[in-house]
Amino acid sequence: MSFSEALGMGEFRPNTKVDFGKIVEVRSTRGAFVAFEGTDGVGKSTQIKLAADWVKTRGWEVVTTREPGGTNLGRQLRELLLEAGETTVCEGQVAPRAEALLFAADRAQHVAELIVPALNAGKIVISDRFMASSVAYQGQGRDLGPKEIRDLSLWATGGLTPNLTVLLDLDPEIAWERQQNDETRVSPDRMEGEGLEFQRKVRARFRRLAEGNETWMVVDASLAPEEIAAQVRLRLASVLPVMKSW
Ligand code: TYD
Repeated sequence: MSFSEALGMGEFRPNTKVDFGKIVEVRSTRGAFVAFEGTDGVGKSTQIKLAADWVKTRGWEVVTTREPGGTNLGRQLRELLLEAGETTVCEGQVAPRAEALLFAADRAQHVAELIVPALNAGKIVISDRFMASSVAYQGQGRDLGPKEIRDLSLWATGGLTPNLTVLLDLDPEIAWERQQNDETRVSPDRMEGEGLEFQRKVRARFRRLAEGNETWMVVDASLAPEEIAAQVRLRLASVLPVMKSW
């Protein structure tokens, strides 16, 4: 029996019929869905690993995943979307609207194939990026309009929205310097190659999304990794379902 079954909750389903532009956000009542967001190079991977390890020590089954590329289809979309240089199928030339739709397609598949089934099995899903990345990068960075991109994404996901979004907030200049000093780093992908001004626009939108939104937490990503992890743990504890002892 899964935790959710034990808790006697009904199966969670995102909306299947949605009126474009009027889609309401829905949050899972089973398991918990957590997304980590931020501009490039803010240290998401390290924090996701620390958070997932901690949630596991609390007895939960955790699924860590990412966008783009959380599914088979998504991995192929990731290659199309992010490879830099002339070797990519798209030769670096992806029209902004095509880019937005490909990210949305990746998300639709991710939600249907991986996220919702995991939540319904009572698991804690931690995703490296979700809807807010599209709103910030495509909506703001590419000037397609945050509202339009949010609607597109909500349509793709049937309204599914994280129970908690953790924004790792860092000045893109500091993130860029960090990346230069990281010897394990591979060459920048197509989005990272967009430059500092682009990253600043994206960061500003992330911060606006977080403003006054109680399902978000903003963490100063210039702090030491252990300090960031401690802050995240405190907040995570409040979104983990109450475990029933039986
Ligand atoms: P990420 O996986 O965080 O990069 P890496 O693993 O190389 O550190 O993100 C991939 C890039 O895709 C990142 O620059 C942000 C961008 N992106 C969008 O532009 N829109 C989206 O909807 C998503 C999910 C990512």
